Order: sequence, then structure tokens, then C-alpha cells
Amino acid sequence: MAENWTPDSWRSKPIVQMPDYPDKEALADVERRLASYPPLVFAGEARKLKAQLADVAEGRGFLLQGGDCAESFAEHHPDHIRDFFRVFLQMSVVLTYGAKRPVVKVGRIAGQFAKPRSSDFETKDGVELPSYRGDNVNDIAFTPESRTPDPHRQLMAYRQSAATLNLLRAFAQGGFANLDHVHQWMLGFVKDSPQGQSYQELADRISEALEFMRACGIDPDSAPQLRSTDFFTSHEGLLLGYEEALTRVDSTTGEHYATSGHMIWIGDRTRQPDHAHIEFARGVKNPIGLKCGPSLSPDGLLELIDLLNPENEPGRLTLIARFGADKVFDHLPQLIRAVEREGRKVVWSCDPMHGNTVTANGYKTRPFERVMQEVDAFFAVHRAEGSHAGGVHVEMTGRNVTECTGGAHQLSAEDLGDRYHTHCDPRLNADQSIELAFRIAENLRKEAEKEAAQ
Ligand code: PEP
Ligand code: CO
Repeated sequence: MAENWTPDSWRSKPIVQMPDYPDKEALADVERRLASYPPLVFAGEARKLKAQLADVAEGRGFLLQGGDCAESFAEHHPDHIRDFFRVFLQMSVVLTYGAKRPVVKVGRIAGQFAKPRSSDFETKDGVELPSYRGDNVNDIAFTPESRTPDPHRQLMAYRQSAATLNLLRAFAQGGFANLDHVHQWMLGFVKDSPQGQSYQELADRISEALEFMRACGIDPDSAPQLRSTDFFTSHEGLLLGYEEALTRVDSTTGEHYATSGHMIWIGDRTRQPDHAHIEFARGVKNPIGLKCGPSLSPDGLLELIDLLNPENEPGRLTLIARFGADKVFDHLPQLIRAVEREGRKVVWSCDPMHGNTVTANGYKTRPFERVMQEVDAFFAVHRAEGSHAGGVHVEMTGRNVTECTGGAHQLSAEDLGDRYHTHCDPRLNADQSIELAFRIAENLRKEAEKEAAQ
């Protein structure tokens, strides 16, 4: 076990981004109840994800991580989960073909509720109220009652996570992930996209590969791998009382695991090395993500790696770079060099969302072109450094929302008001998500070409 660590040792450390609950007794009662509830995921599953991420760290796979910025109680609907999963699977087929390697599938789902905020308060028309911190903390409506943190919302979040996870497990194992179907959906996307021409060649090559495999007797009827898939869950490990309550000792190893999701990550605002969030994360054995923004120095990163992965276990730590399209070249190379110099085993992933947020027409949005540029820059830096661009981390939905501008359908700032549904940051819609997957596949092909030439 990590030295001097207990599931509650974070409580004696400085902490930021925590809600101020007026009713401490009610909070303690909720945490006691959560601690008696069944785990949402099992340690063995988290270990399986870690093993798959270890392959990614060694250059033998690619990580696709994505989902809502913030899940909400109001939008908990089976169709939304289904539509998300359908698009996610289409992206993974495109990426698997591009990478010629397994794609590790991790949703930002079934637990992604708590949000860090840039300001503790929000002011509207001269009225100041606590900021919205995610549906497991308070309600987004701008009234004093709604914005008061209510611990009982954690019980709702737990139940919603359980129900969502149940449906996702059924989709992943029950036939919905059948490769033939996913490929047909993808062909439908290509046919309907105004940019369809540019995707046609890759889509044709995937069709041919599937026909060849079928001729050899390998199809979803004969091969279980082609009709089911591994799918894992993740969220920001922000609300530490909730995380502690769901931390359990794994009976087979005696180690502690966060059982609120398979992977948890630490946000860019809560990664101070001597603070509570790092303290909590260092002791649980799950795969851990760490957001790396422009303020992180190479030495600061190495210090965090020492704390989070002292045994240099591949698959334990995923570094999620989120600089902004124009800042990647200034920050990423030095971090990669420090990690390579010290021989640290990590997965490098790219979050092309959080450094590219702008305001247009009164809406928080992200120009799709900038999102693509950050991904291109991330791959270009890894090609130059000879390291593996291991994954992407995106905010996306399977629905046809209008939250990010641009893409093949050329959404403009004026369109944002049509279907702007997010509870927090703007997400890629279904088409933009698949377009991005094609762009990543192109980058993966370049990486493979460079490797083959060496
Ligand atoms: C997020 O992933 O929604 C988020 C808040 O990211 P970051 O911590 O990188 O700002
Ligand atoms: Co976000």
C-alpha cells in the first residue's frame, strides 16, 4: 500500500474546488450510506483496463476516451446513452483501422458529474450565487435554493451511474457492438456527410477488410470479438467524499480501488502535489489520468509522476495534454523530453477541447478547426520526438447538438442557440466526433509510416 495513505488521508491536506455544504451532518450521513452500497465497478476490471493501457504506453494500442463534459439528471435517457455509444463505436472502428492496433474504449460516463469552476460565484443582474458545480452537488437553475450544495444529490448520482453502467454493459456485451452493424452506421455517416468524399477511401478499405475476413470464415457469428467489446468508465475524481465512500479493499489483492468508475482523472485545477486530490489518487490502484495544462513545468510533472506512479507501472498513469492549439509546440516537447529522459512509462493522450474554449454570440463554444489543429499538433510533436501519440480525450455526445462551431456542416456562431444543451462545456456533436476520428486515423497512418521507415 502507498506509504502513510488511507482512504481518508486526503482530509488533512489543503483542498480546492470543493463545495461548501451548509449541512455537515447530512453530508456525513450520505457518505455513510454510500459506503454501505455495492461497488459500481470491480477491481479486476480496473486491472484489465490498466493492462490494456500498459499496451498503449508501449506503443501497442490507442486510447479513445470521451463523453459529456458533465452528465446531468435531466438528460438521463436511454436514447442518449445509446446514441453516445453508437458514435463512440463508430469512432473506434475508424481508429482501429487507422492505428492497426487495438483501441481501448473509455467513456466519460456513468459518474462524470462534479465540475471544477474558474470562479466560486456567478453574478447575474447584480445577484451573486454559488457557481454550479455539477448535478451531484447543486442544481444549474440560478436561484439560491438550487445553487445550495445538497449532499443527497450524491445518492442520485450513484443511482444514475449504476443504471447507465448497466445499460452500457448490456450494449457492450449483448450484440449492439456487432462490427458489421457499426460499419454500416459508419457508411451511413459517410454517405450523408457533405465531406463524404474525403472519407470514402478509408471507408472502402474497411469494407474490403471485412469482406476478406468474412471470406476467411471470420465474422460476428463465428468470432465473439466481433460482436462484443470491452468498455470502461471514467470521470474526474473531484468530489473526494463520494470517492472515499466508494473506495473498497479488493479481496484478491488487499489493495484499495476506487469503485466509482474504472479510471479517475485529476483536473488541471486540482493537481497541486501537496493537496488533497493528488493525495487521494496516489493510494488507489486504478488507472489514473492527469490533466496537463500550460502551467505545468517539466519538473512539476516529474514530481507528480513520482507521487502517482512511484513504481513506474505502465498503464497506471495517462497524461492528458490540454494546452490549446497554438500552445502545443511551446509546452508538449519539453514535457515529453523530461518523461523520456527519466524513463517514465506513461500514456500520452490529447484533450483538444479545454484549451480551445471561446465565447461567441453569448455562448461558450469551441471552433472545430482548432480542435483538429490541436490533435494534429499533438501528433506532429510525437512524430518529431519519436514517442507514441497514445490517445485522445474528447467532450462529445451522440446527439445532433449545436455547441461547437465548424465541421462539415459548417455550424456558425448564429446556429449555437438552436440545440445548445450542455450543462457545462460545449461538446462535439455526432458528425463532428466521427470527422475527428477520420482526422486522427490519418495521423495514426503517418505515425505508422514513420515507424515502418525506421
Ligand atoms: C474537464 O475535463 O471537464 C475539465 C474541467 O478539464 P480540465 O481539468 O483539463 O480543465
Ligand atoms: Co469540460
